Amino acid sequence: MAYLLGLDIGTSGVKALLMTEAGEVAGSVTEEYPLYSPRPGWTEQEPEDMWQASVRAVQGVLAKCGVSGSDVKGVGLSGQMHSSVFLDKDYQVIRRAVLWNDTRTSGQCQAIRDTLDPEMLFSEVCNPVLEGFTLPKVIWLRDNEPESYEKLRWLVLPKDYVRFRLTGNLAMEVSDAAGMLMMNIREQKWSLPVLEGLGISSEILPGIIQSSEVAGTITAEVAELTGLAEGTPVVGGGADNACGAVGSGVVKPGRGMISLGTSGVVLAHLTEPRLVRAGTVHMFNSSVPDEFYMMGVVLAAGLSLSWFRENMSDPSESYDEITKRAAASPAGSRGLLFLPYLQGERTPHGDGNARGSFVGLSAAHNRGDLTRAVLEGVAFAMRDSVELLRSAGWNGTALRGIGGGLKSPLWKEIMASVTGLAVQSLNIDEGPAFGAAILAGVGAGIFANVPDASDAVVKVTDTVEPNEEWQKVYEELYQIYRGLYPALRNSFHSLVALQ
Ligand code: XUL
Repeated sequence: MAYLLGLDIGTSGVKALLMTEAGEVAGSVTEEYPLYSPRPGWTEQEPEDMWQASVRAVQGVLAKCGVSGSDVKGVGLSGQMHSSVFLDKDYQVIRRAVLWNDTRTSGQCQAIRDTLDPEMLFSEVCNPVLEGFTLPKVIWLRDNEPESYEKLRWLVLPKDYVRFRLTGNLAMEVSDAAGMLMMNIREQKWSLPVLEGLGISSEILPGIIQSSEVAGTITAEVAELTGLAEGTPVVGGGADNACGAVGSGVVKPGRGMISLGTSGVVLAHLTEPRLVRAGTVHMFNSSVPDEFYMMGVVLAAGLSLSWFRENMSDPSESYDEITKRAAASPAGSRGLLFLPYLQGERTPHGDGNARGSFVGLSAAHNRGDLTRAVLEGVAFAMRDSVELLRSAGWNGTALRGIGGGLKSPLWKEIMASVTGLAVQSLNIDEGPAFGAAILAGVGAGIFANVPDASDAVVKVTDTVEPNEEWQKVYEELYQIYRGLYPALRNSFHSLVALQ
């Protein structure tokens, strides 16, 4: 039997997944690594940890599934987007990677906006300038750690770094390159007007390859280390959201995805990019060649519930127990609203200094109401993204759901009722690692192309429609929710300034 390996270099760890050539999941293994937060708002990881965890995860999944490395016909990678891996001329890591959810670069974002012509910038990169993206991180390095910047010879993203360690070839894959703010996404070329305008050499960026293109093969040394066979093809892979889309069949126009993990994403597939200026909608290249997707990102989605459990509820409770208590509260949590901006917010506010809040608290509220308000607040934040995608022309009626948060039937029904869209479950919910394995199958010649492969293996198994009673309550509450950020913005900023 032939197998394909997908490796997702995530924020909490690496997931290695083996898929059969028939598209079935043989098994997966996750190996974790630490996240460092040396200052408030800073998040960093060691690229070496990502590599070591990848090796352990590959060894682990081969052993767990009893699969011989010689039966693995292709490897695909997926990974956290935007996080910067800085390498010197000898391909050694210069400092820890600065991650996608790090907010240290507000000043650099402003400097980019002040330096470049906004029309030129937007027409090149088709995206807003946000703290999490890669370009401001490079400028931060130049501004704050000139001795590191001096050494900078190559800039890559986490999965591209791990692919380099697997194959010895350095390359950047297009769906991830799109999130760096350094690429003309329509032409799929590094943007010289942007880079030169900021005094950054395009020489630090490796060549751009496609998601299902073979980027190299497993080296003899890595074969020895992992159990994979020397010469196994390794494809470009994709950004975690691009691979999430491939792994959930969101590879054709009209289709949409909702992902409820630590962060939340609402994503719609497109055949052409659109210039959407409103509300920090992201526009990236899809892993389907020459196609695109647009998406909104809620930074603290599942994170809001895990924060609530740790700090305001009982950390020993399971998520099932927590949501059972929330289910006892009625839709609307008896007049209580929660703003999930625990880490600032990307979509729609693009504001690293936004903060979370409960609004409408009274002595009559109990823990069930607070819990339900958290689930609903995250859903309202996701609705903001849905509205933006709708106003940019997306007219889908259903979202394919992935991620741990949607394993809760209550949260799924809340999400459907708040967004007014059906939320669908899939036969396979393995996230980006599964999409990466599909890409490996295309590169290895087992599947003909990305959309057909994805459609052949991913099936909708269950659909949750909006609950009409809840929908009425949520329509009214959403209007109140939308008024809260503008009303509280200045207070959030003053509070942050005080710290
Ligand atoms: C997308 C983003 C996150 C990370 C999570 O723009 O920043 O979804 O990719 O890994």
